[in-house]
Amino acid sequence: MLTSAGIMSLLFLFFLSWATIANLGDRVYNDYLKGDLCQMLPSPSPHPKGYSSHSAPPSKQNTSFPNHVPIPILPPIRNYTDAELSTFVLAKDILSRAKDPVGNAKVAFMFLTGGPLPFEKIWEEFFKGHEGKYLIYVHSSREQPARNTSMFQGRDIRPQKVFWGRIEMVDAERRLLANALLDLDNQYFALLSDSCIPLYPFDYVYEYLLGGNMSYVDCFEDPGPHGQGRYMDQMMPEVRRSDWRKGAQWFAVTRYHALMIVADHLYYSKFKLNCKPGPENRNCYPDEHYISTFLHIMNPANLANWTVTYVDWSERRWHPKTYTKNDITFERLQLIQNIKEHVHETSDSLGIRTVKPCLWGGQQRPCFLFARKFLPDTAGDLLQLLSNVTWPLSRHQQERSSATFRF
Ligand SMILES: *[C@@H]1O[C@H](CO)[C@@H](O)[C@H](O)[C@H]1NC(C)=O
Ligand SMILES: *[C@@H]1O[C@H](CO)[C@@H](O)[C@H](O)[C@H]1NC(C)=O
Ligand SMILES: *[C@@H]1O[C@H](CO)[C@@H](O)[C@H](O)[C@H]1NC(C)=O
Ligand SMILES: *[C@@H]1O[C@H](CO)[C@@H](O)[C@H](O)[C@H]1NC(C)=O
Ligand SMILES: *[C@@H]1O[C@H](CO)[C@@H](O)[C@H](O)[C@H]1NC(C)=O
Ligand SMILES: *[C@@H]1O[C@H](CO)[C@@H](O)[C@H](O)[C@H]1NC(C)=O
Repeated sequence: MLTSAGIMSLLFLFFLSWATIANLGDRVYNDYLKGDLCQMLPSPSPHPKGYSSHSAPPSKQNTSFPNHVPIPILPPIRNYTDAELSTFVLAKDILSRAKDPVGNAKVAFMFLTGGPLPFEKIWEEFFKGHEGKYLIYVHSSREQPARNTSMFQGRDIRPQKVFWGRIEMVDAERRLLANALLDLDNQYFALLSDSCIPLYPFDYVYEYLLGGNMSYVDCFEDPGPHGQGRYMDQMMPEVRRSDWRKGAQWFAVTRYHALMIVADHLYYSKFKLNCKPGPENRNCYPDEHYISTFLHIMNPANLANWTVTYVDWSERRWHPKTYTKNDITFERLQLIQNIKEHVHETSDSLGIRTVKPCLWGGQQRPCFLFARKFLPDTAGDLLQLLSNVTWPLSRHQQERSSATFRF
């Protein structure tokens, strides 16, 4: 019988065998993480493609651990620190775990707000009838007003102060993730703001998130001042300039990635120390860089690189457009629902636009499940439009295309 001490020593041996192969080339090692580990995620493609061009014959090491992958032997570019090694080991272990067979997989809807949730009624309509398939978490940083619907009552987690654009924002995101991870049924984690609405009916959103194997994290290499311009050499050696990514804060991540984010100490600390607002810090906002950069380093193969939360930048201002009552039309909602390409634009003077199809399991599909930002007083009109027209219609669309989408 394996005692816990036995298990510990096995783990220690495993760690040691890792330590001995840790002197791998940077690129190779990253390929190893990016390619092979991803193959162990659900519905993997049959052949590892990550480091095939660099790979050496399978190593002769014998360990009793399953999923042992051949280690490419190439001269190291750089020796990894203990902290990096620990982070990689954790990531490897998390990614190599088979998805637990959860009878009752849930999506965690995590609301980040200063206080009120003006669209509670809309969300209530959205969730109604789907009990057991979702859990709500609210992080309310300024005040905890009484929630108006029973669905939201008692769903506030213990919050802390959030300062916009500072590391406390990332802390709140990690706090929400950690609280939601406590429930083993939660297999997917969507971060939402108080100005967010759902664009599709619950079943559609549930299948979209759980039916794929990607995290919807906005992840973009922007050479301009709002991207690379915020990179600091102090991020070295762990975060190289070429790994620096930028993206909107609102993410939806798999349980694997959620675990990796809360377990990460190394990269988080780097960002906490170096990525801060203010011109002296190159106006670095951690919530726009930390998660996209961290997951890009650890496991880019399972990143969609776009976010499922729509926002309107058409006014080209510092803040996205906030929709007022006059903007709420069926046509506008339908337009947003039917967007099937995501766009990134560099923040330099060239403003180069990259347009890519939103590919879900190889099929082009609508990119957005949620949308922001809406003023609180649009709630009534939105509720009518969504529940009478938009949601029923999209159910229709969903049925029509079910053959293509394999639902
Ligand atoms: C495993 O390795 C040990 C020493 O490293 C060796 O003695 C043993 O024969 C190996 N076992 C197998 C099954 O290869
Ligand atoms: C890694 O460390 C070893 C000794 O600890 C050293 O011999 C080697 O040159 C280092 N490799 C690199 C790429 O710095
Ligand atoms: C919740 O109810 C209170 C009092 O009934 C009301 O003032 C407030 O506007 C409501 N909030 C929302 C988001 O509906
Ligand atoms: C996202 O970008 C990474 C590279 O940064 C790439 O490996 C990955 O395949 C991309 N995801 C999709 C869905 O194209
Ligand atoms: C899962 O990922 C693999 C590649 O890693 C991809 O080929 C497959 O289409 C994905 N499945 C879905 C449903 O997204
Ligand atoms: C939506 O349905 C409700 C109840 O059936 C009705 O009172 C309302 O007028 C409808 N709104 C629209 C925009 O059709």
